[in-house]
Amino acid sequence: MKPVKVSPSLMCADILDLKRELDIFAETGMDLLHVDIMDGHYAPNFTLGPDFCRRIAEHSSIPLDIHLMIENVDAFIPAFAKVRNAILCVHPEAGYHPLRSLELIRKLGAHPAVAVSPATSVETVKHLLPQAEMVCVMTVNPGYAGQKLIPQTLGKIEELTRFAEIEGLDADIEVDGNVSWENIPKMLDAGANVLVAGTSCIYDGKQGLKENILRLRELIEAHTGSS
Ligand code: DX5
Ligand code: ZN
Repeated sequence: MKPVKVSPSLMCADILDLKRELDIFAETGMDLLHVDIMDGHYAPNFTLGPDFCRRIAEHSSIPLDIHLMIENVDAFIPAFAKVRNAILCVHPEAGYHPLRSLELIRKLGAHPAVAVSPATSVETVKHLLPQAEMVCVMTVNPGYAGQKLIPQTLGKIEELTRFAEIEGLDADIEVDGNVSWENIPKMLDAGANVLVAGTSCIYDGKQGLKENILRLRELIEAHTGSS
């Protein structure tokens, strides 16, 4: 089992208190910062942009996990690749030649990743995995926090886990969407090792952010034997 990484979803953060939350992430050893980028076309919402990402990267040393839910993604990769040490995650259906997108990301010094939406077949990304450091399995449709897990997406995590093992690929498997206290054990058992933590867990409002992060670490440790 690969070490489990936690990637807080900044679209769920308290934007008016973000500096304090970033300091909590540093204090509690968060591994990545998940930044959802939406253009109102590929995803029916607007969120954050490259300047936001650059500013975050100036303040925090935690690498950004930038989830590009945007059309014509190649045109915007250079702007996001300026963010230090960032993962840039693209949806294959958002461009014409996703292998070229992944090669462009790597050429510009960022870390390439590929995302698969709930209705997109795992077959679509299998041929991209050799050029990707991570695959993001979306368990909700792109666009909004607070949605419910689409049950059949758990099988896609398992399928990708098996495929990576058979092919000897070392890509991380990220799960994004309704990563809740109840769903996390199932997601880990399916083979996910990067958790996008949003309103379903660390931002559920039932406890403070720091208390919820500690609860998440305990849940991961109890389920995998390592935190
Ligand atoms: C969905 C977003 C995620 C996530 C937010 O488009 O990519 O960041 O769903 O967390 P939840 O689902 O827990 O509110
Ligand atoms: Zn996301």
